[in-house]
Amino acid sequence: MKVSHIGALLLFAGRAHALLEVIQAAAPPRLDLSTPTCKQQVFTHGFGNSYGAPYVGYYTPPHDCAYTTTIFNLSVVSSGRQYDRLATLWLGDVEVWRTSTAMPTQTGIHWSFQKDMTIWDTILRSQDPTKIIFELNNVIDGDRYTGFFNATLEALYFDDVYDHGAGLHPAEHIYAISTQSSSSNTTSLFSLPEDSGTVNLTLPRNAKTAVVSIMASGNAAEEFWFTNVPTEYINTFPENEGWLYGYSPFREVQLLIDDQLAGVSWPFPILFTGGVDPGAWRPIVGIDAYELPSFEVDVTPWLGLLTDGESHTFELRVVGWDSSTEDGIGPVGDNWWVSGSVFVWVDEASEQTVVGDFQSEISSPVFDFQPTLGTHVNENGTATNTSFYYALTASRSLTVSSMITSGGESRLVSWSQDLSYSNIQNMTDFAFNQSLAMISSGRHSNSASDIVSSYTYPMNLFSAYKVQSEGATTNPGSVLCLVDRSKLTDGIALLPFLTGILAGPETLSTRQNVTSNYHWNSTIVEGTAGLDTMDGETWFSSSSSPGIDQGVRRYHRYAREKNDAIEVDEEGWSTIQVPPTEPLPVVEGEPHV
Ligand SMILES: *[C@@H]1O[C@H](CO)[C@@H](O)[C@H](O)[C@H]1NC(C)=O
Ligand SMILES: *[C@@H]1O[C@H](CO)[C@@H](O)[C@H](O)[C@H]1NC(C)=O
Ligand SMILES: *[C@@H]1O[C@H](CO)[C@@H](O)[C@H](O)[C@H]1NC(C)=O
Ligand SMILES: *[C@@H]1O[C@H](CO)[C@@H](O)[C@H](O)[C@H]1NC(C)=O
Ligand SMILES: *[C@@H]1O[C@H](CO)[C@@H](O)[C@H](O)[C@H]1NC(C)=O
Ligand SMILES: *[C@@H]1O[C@H](CO)[C@@H](O)[C@H](O)[C@H]1NC(C)=O
Ligand SMILES: *[C@@H]1O[C@H](CO)[C@@H](O)[C@H](O)[C@H]1NC(C)=O
Ligand SMILES: *[C@@H]1O[C@H](CO)[C@@H](O)[C@H](O)[C@H]1NC(C)=O
Ligand SMILES: *[C@@H]1O[C@H](CO)[C@@H](O)[C@H](O)[C@H]1NC(C)=O
Ligand SMILES: *[C@@H]1O[C@H](CO)[C@@H](O)[C@H](O)[C@H]1NC(C)=O
Repeated sequence: MKVSHIGALLLFAGRAHALLEVIQAAAPPRLDLSTPTCKQQVFTHGFGNSYGAPYVGYYTPPHDCAYTTTIFNLSVVSSGRQYDRLATLWLGDVEVWRTSTAMPTQTGIHWSFQKDMTIWDTILRSQDPTKIIFELNNVIDGDRYTGFFNATLEALYFDDVYDHGAGLHPAEHIYAISTQSSSSNTTSLFSLPEDSGTVNLTLPRNAKTAVVSIMASGNAAEEFWFTNVPTEYINTFPENEGWLYGYSPFREVQLLIDDQLAGVSWPFPILFTGGVDPGAWRPIVGIDAYELPSFEVDVTPWLGLLTDGESHTFELRVVGWDSSTEDGIGPVGDNWWVSGSVFVWVDEASEQTVVGDFQSEISSPVFDFQPTLGTHVNENGTATNTSFYYALTASRSLTVSSMITSGGESRLVSWSQDLSYSNIQNMTDFAFNQSLAMISSGRHSNSASDIVSSYTYPMNLFSAYKVQSEGATTNPGSVLCLVDRSKLTDGIALLPFLTGILAGPETLSTRQNVTSNYHWNSTIVEGTAGLDTMDGETWFSSSSSPGIDQGVRRYHRYAREKNDAIEVDEEGWSTIQVPPTEPLPVVEGEPHV
């Protein structure tokens, strides 16, 4: 079956404009979204000068509506000149959706994206109104940055039958690892490294399963963390001072329970729609731009410690590689926005979970760093650095396990991770030219299933900037960018699986290959018609084991874009072969990695 796409025609200000739809390839949360049992608008809000001024309202579940599944539909329109912005959606102190915006055009763009919210059912079903906060920090400054982001959030409800295993069984408790600031009408993000990233939580004594879900993304000097250099190299090209950021291109997001490491995430490298080359991401945004990925750590093996009725600390930390420390772990720059939540399922038949034989095997990560500086000896005898090549690799394993006894039966519960990472870069032209070949991959197994999950994130990226060092983004400039990258995952999505939304594993392959040559006159957020060229291809293919009839078993989308237009767009309820990411073609003068 083929899914048809009808370009939306939105009416505003009395005139009809065909707004450009800017898409992200992703599987819809359900086969049919058009016939909900009921629906409601949660909010509609224009984000203009909105720094520190989030939308704050209340969410109440629908009355007189029998439903099991809740799906949120976020839609946004924007026109004018504007940066890409990050946005976060909160139910009270719990972050439920981290998204980012596409960059608008003068004639306007729109998009909508749907997300299954049923894992938060316990919060969403609360009869007391739940505070809902949507923060989208934007700036309108008169003439230069003019684009509002006008956002509407709808909730769609479906009365699905969950017929696998125990049926629909959302977590009974969800605790926030956040600043817990919703009572003062602000979001509860930790901004690391300044904030503590720490909360004290008391879990129920009869908890039988606990999973921590973590959201983390880098901003400012940390947005392109994967292109950063070890701190001792930031002055390699004094001709281009301030262009290179430090703390290495390696990042680890850590979860600590009572100061002990419980799990880590080596994050997916997000490229936002203003990232590297703003011309590369319209009308198809980068992988995961509309729904930034979370990472889950199964903390069930820690229940022996956590079910004693006392409070325990949960801490989120972000670290980088540091050549000067013994274990290679060091600080990161400003800033990382992080938050987490602890999803807890309880054993109603028991008052106290019995756990024994706690074991933790955690090795320090192993790093290897090989730098090569290319230098040129000038006629007067001084040297100039002409290129900087380096390869940084890392690997790490950890396993935490214990034995849980309930109803006279004991089961071994364990969480283990194996991760590896390689980042090879070569910079020339005072680092205005940068090439990157990165691959991070890993495997993890949990206590909820016997399925081992795996992921691979290869990314090849080349960018060549021509800018005046001063005012690089507000003086005329250009950038040539080539990117070919994939996200490949296979295994158990823990929270949907434990909730009953998924009955088994899922497999996802997506790849983007984009070449963009972008020019700007006075602000990097606006390209120059006629000069800008872009070619891109996106593949997306997934297969899944849904816990409901209307779940999506297989889905694919293939799209080709050229110069702000979609040339080919095919999607359907089947999988496709996604060709692997390849080394970038050699362009003139391009440094090889
Ligand atoms: C917080 O937001 C709610 C919902 O908009 C509003 O009713 C309340 O007055 C706000 N409180 C403060 C202190 O601004
Ligand atoms: C999402 O909301 C937008 C704007 O209201 C609407 O055009 C679109 O049809 C909605 N999508 C779904 C699946 O309901
Ligand atoms: C967004 O909202 C603002 C203010 O509410 C309005 O002036 C503008 O026309 C809207 N823009 C779009 C593209 O709908
Ligand atoms: C957690 O509890 C400890 C011990 O009572 C206390 O020192 C610490 O400040 C608390 N941390 C937070 C973030 O509340
Ligand atoms: C060359 O790069 C090294 C390493 O960053 C730096 O210490 C040195 O000062 C640079 N040399 C010049 C001449 O810029
Ligand atoms: C040596 O030559 C280089 C390259 O021409 C120049 O940038 C530098 O300023 C010169 N240094 C001295 C001390 O003359
Ligand atoms: C940018 O500058 C070029 C060359 O001067 C000009 O042709 C073009 O119209 C300008 N574009 C914008 C968007 O200002
Ligand atoms: C990636 O895209 C570029 C530009 O469209 C194209 O030249 C190149 O062949 C593509 N690479 C692969 C491996 O398909
Ligand atoms: C930088 O990249 C551009 C675009 O590929 C190329 O034309 C130029 O020669 C490169 N410069 C250096 C110093 O490698
Ligand atoms: C880095 O790029 C420069 C310029 O193309 C090249 O001379 C050098 O060999 C490259 N370094 C490595 C290790 O590939």
